[in-house]
Amino acid sequence: MDFYIEPSENLSGEIEIPGDKSISHRAVIFGALACGVSEFANFLSGEDCLATLDAFKNLGVKVNLSDDKLIIHGVGINGLNKASEALYLGNSGTSARLLIGLLGAQKFASTIEGDKSLSGRPMNRVLDPLEKMGANIQSNNGRLPIHINSVNEVSSIKYSLPIASAQVKSSLILASIYADSQSKIKEKWITRDHTERMMQSMGYPISVTDNIISVDGKGILNPIKLNIPGDFSSSVFLIVACLITPNSSITIKNVGTNSTRTGFLRIAKMMGANIDIHNKRMEGCESVADINVKTSSLQSVQVEDNDLVSLSIDEFPAIFILAANADGTSIFRGLKELRVKESDRISSMSKGLQKLGINTVEFEDGIQIEGGKPDGGDIECFGDHRVAMSFAVAGASAKNAIRVNNVESVDTSFPSFLNCVKKIGICINANKE
Ligand code: S3P
Repeated sequence: MDFYIEPSENLSGEIEIPGDKSISHRAVIFGALACGVSEFANFLSGEDCLATLDAFKNLGVKVNLSDDKLIIHGVGINGLNKASEALYLGNSGTSARLLIGLLGAQKFASTIEGDKSLSGRPMNRVLDPLEKMGANIQSNNGRLPIHINSVNEVSSIKYSLPIASAQVKSSLILASIYADSQSKIKEKWITRDHTERMMQSMGYPISVTDNIISVDGKGILNPIKLNIPGDFSSSVFLIVACLITPNSSITIKNVGTNSTRTGFLRIAKMMGANIDIHNKRMEGCESVADINVKTSSLQSVQVEDNDLVSLSIDEFPAIFILAANADGTSIFRGLKELRVKESDRISSMSKGLQKLGINTVEFEDGIQIEGGKPDGGDIECFGDHRVAMSFAVAGASAKNAIRVNNVESVDTSFPSFLNCVKKIGICINANKE
């Protein structure tokens, strides 16, 4: 399927977007490990979270998903059973890294597989520390497929994360649940903290002081009820569309605004974006707000601050679209992690922007983008949902129509993307040929 987007204007309306992907994964995982029945509303039925859900069904957990309401019958931390087959996690890095941590500490064996993109992504970042804890895992040179052998127990760990990664942190926290003493995991850069928040709200003994997460072993997770906030990362595509399209003004309601996720707002504001966050409130353990956005005249920006990078790691493809529409030359450094996402996002975005007539220079850890007015053109998204959605919204303000080819991957994180962007007035069509 391709997206065909024509220049648009006057984007408007009030819209809600589907549930947060990171929190939806954790809802399944911690709901399954709780002792009792948890209920989650606004669960994201994207392919990635459904892969996590299928994995837990395979591990013997009873779940009920109707519309966006997930009821999960937790089996307690020691209640999972050996899966009857290999767990296939599709495109989902979060499912793979978190499940390797959890399953690496079990008294039964598991095998984890994924699609071509996931099978090319590095897993050593979790395998190395998990082996230190006593996990026994065979990989294909640090990549999937991975076979996890059963272990009688794992030991606690004191570990300083060498990279900014919420997936690695969460993987180690999950394994630490099974150790018989307290683990300490230190972060140099702040990363999303949904795991810590959800565990705390379930009464698990986990605390965070000065960037050090202390996790007791063998605690209990109580079931919870949570209304999952809208996914901030998905909202960013609509925000970018509105900022760059003439005469536009939209409101996005019930969006998660956890401060470990909203580095984008700081970058966009440095560029002159007119974004207003209001009606702030808490939804269980997470903060939520409504977001007003208006067309803005954008200036170039320089981002090299590592903290800002880890707080907006998934938003760079969309930020590059802002830079392509800004006045002046923007420089982004410290983005090495983008090279090992669902695609090499520095290269995928650079190639696409050049096709639209925007000058870019790639660095090993970043990109320089000369702003202007992107032209139309035919874009490849390299199987990467965020690259596909970024170029789709770029189409709203380009000089001519943009076609984004093979956009099936959008269903991994934002299955209702097409409806949502149509609803605010973007001229977009899906072409199945
Ligand atoms: C995620 C963590 C991030 C992010 C991914 C979701 C999570 O990955 O890019 O989309 O839910 O923990 P890293 O931890 O590898 O940066």
